[in-house]
Amino acid sequence: MESFASVQEALEKKQGGFRLRGWVYRHRVTKNAVFVLLRDSTGVIQCVFKPDNPDFQKASDLYIESSVIIEGEVRPDERAPGGAELKAEKLEVVCNREPFVITKDQSTEFLMDVRHLSVRAQKITRAMIAREKMMKYFREFFEKEGFHEVFPPIFTVAGAEGGATLFEVPYFGKKVYLSQSAQLYLEALIFSLEKVYSLTPSFRAEKSHTSKHLTEYWHLEAEMAWWDQEKNMDFQERMISYVCQKMAENEKALLEYFGRDPADLKKVEPPFPRMSYDEAIEELQKKGFDIEYGDDPGAPHEEALTKDLDKPLFIHSFPEDMKAFYMQPDEKNPGKVKAADMLAPKGHGEIIGGSERIWDKDLLEKKIKEFGLDPKAYEWYVDLRRYGSVPHSGFGLGTERTLKWILDLPHIRDVVPFPRTVNRYYP
Ligand code: 4AD
Ligand code: MG
Repeated sequence: MESFASVQEALEKKQGGFRLRGWVYRHRVTKNAVFVLLRDSTGVIQCVFKPDNPDFQKASDLYIESSVIIEGEVRPDERAPGGAELKAEKLEVVCNREPFVITKDQSTEFLMDVRHLSVRAQKITRAMIAREKMMKYFREFFEKEGFHEVFPPIFTVAGAEGGATLFEVPYFGKKVYLSQSAQLYLEALIFSLEKVYSLTPSFRAEKSHTSKHLTEYWHLEAEMAWWDQEKNMDFQERMISYVCQKMAENEKALLEYFGRDPADLKKVEPPFPRMSYDEAIEELQKKGFDIEYGDDPGAPHEEALTKDLDKPLFIHSFPEDMKAFYMQPDEKNPGKVKAADMLAPKGHGEIIGGSERIWDKDLLEKKIKEFGLDPKAYEWYVDLRRYGSVPHSGFGLGTERTLKWILDLPHIRDVVPFPRTVNRYYP
């Protein structure tokens, strides 16, 4: 049994009989031939049935997405999709029950209702492969830099990113929350492993109907003992650049399928531009936006700041009360914290949020109170500041948003097989 990629390889060596398994991707019946474009996980190949073939009628009756096994001779054909054509001799039908529900020009809503079937489309298939490759390069980078991969929990007792977006779950008569971020647990693990990262689902009960928000997403997070915010940002820059360079060098065909020029990703090299929160507000006011000091920049602002950039932009030094309770105040910059968001170019939005963490017990307890959080839920987290506390930093990256930018796609659902959003949890 050959896959289509191996057909290509075999063709270089010989021509001859093949037995191919796959699904009917396209189907065209004429008087003189039935053309079946067969797909498997490696690609597509055109199979031709002539009227003198005993299986000609069976081939004419095939539905799109039927599963079949086709035997025949393969010959190279420049004009055929996939560069080869199979002259079919025998057709074995595995399943040909009903006409496929998906036809041309159906609404996005319908395609999402039948996502379990529309995931077979080339676009999402290739996005899944691109995601797999991208994650491989992230992991490669962490490994090169001496990080340990760790596996934190999903049931948690407290949020890292504010109560408003927590999903509550009943837990044997008590209630727990789905994790918003592994950060607090990664902080516990730096005391044994020093440099750790994790890839976990994160959950946000955000009622945001945008092209960038999911209620469930895969979060790549890292935490580093002894590192300050400067080192943290330098690392993020090198990491994003490493992944972009690898995608541009090794995944050209995938990028080009999405109309993305690999040369553009090649430009993503350190240093990335940096702008303080104050500078960002000033810049936005200059551009005519009605925004004031203390406002959180939204999508149109992010778009305005990044639309002409080739590389991501760091916005740093946010006002203390705008961000999370655990961020280290900047002694040289009163009222500000040592935190930065990384915004992807061309309005793709925030892909990374990171900061230096408060490592002094008294200050952390003060901040927990000021933010109106329940001290009981954070007792264990405060404990980390009692025994051998050290300065440390970390960040979290949204993998779907990052891929959306790398492939330059308009919507986050384009890179997710089964997106979870406010209105969508089926199938
Ligand atoms: O900026 P956030 O909320 O930061 C944290 O959760 C930190 N505790 C991470 C850390 O320091 N370990 O989220 C981090 C990133 C965002 O920059 C964004 O890319 C992504 O997670 N993200 C989302 N992606 C998709 N849908 C959502 N609703 C998202 N919310 C955040
Ligand atoms: Mg953020």
